[in-house]
Amino acid sequence: MAAIEINEVAPRDGLQIEGEFVATEDKIALINALSATGLARIEATSFVSPKAIPQLRDAADVMQGISRRPGVAMTALVPNVRGVERALRCEVDEINLVMSASRSHGLANLRMSPEQSLEQFAEIVQTVRDHPKGQGVFINASLSTSFGCPFEGRVDQQYVLMLMERLLDLGVQGISLCDTTGMATPDQVSRLCEAARERLAETPLTLHFHNTRGMGLANALAAWQAGIVRFDASLGGLGGCPYAPGATGNVCTEDLVHMFEEMGVSTGVDLDALLKVSERLPALVGHDTPGQVVKAGKASRRYAMPGH
Ligand code: COA
Ligand code: ZN
Repeated sequence: MAAIEINEVAPRDGLQIEGEFVATEDKIALINALSATGLARIEATSFVSPKAIPQLRDAADVMQGISRRPGVAMTALVPNVRGVERALRCEVDEINLVMSASRSHGLANLRMSPEQSLEQFAEIVQTVRDHPKGQGVFINASLSTSFGCPFEGRVDQQYVLMLMERLLDLGVQGISLCDTTGMATPDQVSRLCEAARERLAETPLTLHFHNTRGMGLANALAAWQAGIVRFDASLGGLGGCPYAPGATGNVCTEDLVHMFEEMGVSTGVDLDALLKVSERLPALVGHDTPGQVVKAGKASRRYAMPGH
């Protein structure tokens, strides 16, 4: 078994912020290619308002068009009851509820305060558990702006821990702490991860970093050193929340896999296969991507000796 698990979020966090709509069949081909690389989980799309995120308006067609490979969980982001009903109809393996740990970002992104999101979630958990296709569906919740908010600044750790406890009380099974706009620092990450693991030892915790200020891998390493083994990452480093000013890409999947594998920490991912998928991204999105290993090659790459 791999030492860490990676949830690939490029099809959702990556494509939601692209200027050009990526054709449904291209999204399906991307997810199918990613499914063959050993990733544990793929966030395939989001069931949100098509007015809010027109880039993912084809969520149902994508979910229904992809090949489901045993061992690769397909998850989708959901903000409200309407979204969960759509997701369950498409037989998702997991749902990823989204709310913000800051009121201003919650209102900008979801038109909901944290309290209002929690109210929706109580209803959502009930909907999932009562639904014929909801049995066995894993319920995760992502807390956006868990470290910092572009409107309010640093988010209080005690408040985040309180929200996490409320989520678990509602019946949520796993939690992702998201640094939506790349404001977290490694020392802050260590503190929150250690506190969360101490208080919620049994809860599967995932860390979601954006590399907005170049701290993505440093933060992932800090989280791993604090005992975290589940990470969100995005192929090519695509990604960002359209309702958070200045948001840019997630920590890049192939760079994260490369770092851990070079450290001897197994990820279960075939890095060469992943790099081949990443090489095709610029043609898909129409621009260069921020990923670094795809350009530099792996550290094990060797060049001919100079002068020969
Ligand atoms: N799926 C599809 N359509 C949805 C929907 C969902 N989950 N939730 C709401 N809608 C539709 C409604 O039917 C309504 O459509 P209409 O105008 O044609 O009648 C419209 O969206 C507005 O619905 P309402 O319930 O009033 O929502 P809102 O305007 O208060 O917006 C959200 C709330 C959560 C639906 C919206 O802000 C949203 O989808 N945000 C997601 C943003 C996002 O994905 N950000 C990036 C990821 S973190
Ligand atoms: Zn994100």
